[in-house]
Amino acid sequence: MIKNHVYIETYGCQMNLADSELIMGILKKQGYEITKQIENANVILLNTCSVRENAEEKIFHRLDHLKNVKKKNPSAVIGVLGCMAERLRKSLIEEKKIVDVVVGPDEYRRLPEYIEFAFGGEKGIGVKLSRTETYEDIEPYREDGISAWIAVMRGCDKFCSFCVVPFTRGRERSRSLNSVVEEIKKLSQRGFKEVTLLGQNVNSYKDGNYDFADLLAACASVDKNMRIRFTTSHPQDLSDKLLYTIAEHENICNYIHLPVQSGSNRILELMNRTYTIEHYLNLIDKARKIIPGVSFSTDIIAGFPTETEEDHKMTLNVMKQVKYDGAYMFKYSPREGTKAYNMKDDVPEEIKLRRLNEIIELQQQISYEINQQLINKEEVILVEGFSKKSEEFLSGRTDTNKVVVIPKKESIKIGDYVRVKINRATSATLFGEAF
Ligand code: 5AD
Ligand code: SF4
Repeated sequence: MIKNHVYIETYGCQMNLADSELIMGILKKQGYEITKQIENANVILLNTCSVRENAEEKIFHRLDHLKNVKKKNPSAVIGVLGCMAERLRKSLIEEKKIVDVVVGPDEYRRLPEYIEFAFGGEKGIGVKLSRTETYEDIEPYREDGISAWIAVMRGCDKFCSFCVVPFTRGRERSRSLNSVVEEIKKLSQRGFKEVTLLGQNVNSYKDGNYDFADLLAACASVDKNMRIRFTTSHPQDLSDKLLYTIAEHENICNYIHLPVQSGSNRILELMNRTYTIEHYLNLIDKARKIIPGVSFSTDIIAGFPTETEEDHKMTLNVMKQVKYDGAYMFKYSPREGTKAYNMKDDVPEEIKLRRLNEIIELQQQISYEINQQLINKEEVILVEGFSKKSEEFLSGRTDTNKVVVIPKKESIKIGDYVRVKINRATSATLFGEAF
């Protein structure tokens, strides 16, 4: 039998990257081969993102381009998976004739079946959401490496008013603590050095009486030489117990991604974020006391409906107060089906863009200042690979998630922990020397 070859492209968040590994795991078990060359594939899958309109536009363009691929290889099956599949469903097949298979995030087990249908000339749609599916029994397909992701929960129950995720990924559900720990053991045996636990809101992880802090502690105890990271935390649910757990375990990284979204209480309320800026800033203070040297990153949205210049200034102020190590910054994008979609998207495009640019500029300045202060300091990095720009340099990250580039050395291997001295810094990268 000639095996079918699958090519998959992944868009969007880390959760999607983890899902693609899961999808490849499912397909491999059914005898499919994974290929990185689209021209060798007879199954072409796009794992998609719906979080902002420009993400979807990019994928629509990609689908238009795939028409040519299908012309050359008419028997190829083209599938759209992930959040866009869930959101657009049948209309994807109706509007984009080249799409044969549409499968949402909770139906990946049935993907082989849908692909089979498609080989038989039928279009397949699987978009049911589940309250229980966690795929915890499925082994993801991972290439050997240093860093791995594990989705410890799926879905989101927060319903922030701008966010489409609760609709595309369904209700919150957690994997068992045991299954996560077992997966980490296997990763450790395979030589992985870092695991990132993923969830839309990891702080509401629950397995019986175990909460997220228990999960983190259990993961950290598997292999002391393995770094444990996690994302994303919602400011409402980040417990003291979690902060103490991070502080107690050397190998749980001192880095928290804590999206603030806006600095204005009025906007936060409209966003249904369920915390105030005072609560948020208290949390940051408390975390800094409990975990000395902890670093923070955040997500910020510019131009949410009704946002005034005053509200925007409050966001800039919070950024100055917290001094985030990094930030993901976005223009508000209305998403059909969300609560905010019913509000008038009344901040004009050029004002949104100007506010976003001010946010980006301020963050660059802050990151630059923080990084300058690290010059002449010592850090320990986990070497992850060659630097993006040159194979003469290696690149790794500090415990606090900062990228450090060092000159290559015979004695340093990928996967090593290395002590480095920082000698130069930009807003995005530190440069140093091993010693
Ligand atoms: N518009 C702009 N940004 C959004 N995000 C989520 N939904 C939207 C939207 N409709 C951002 C939030 C979230 C991050 C993953 O994406 O900041 O934290
Ligand atoms: Fe979306 Fe809010 Fe859930 Fe994050 S916490 S996935 S922003 S609804």
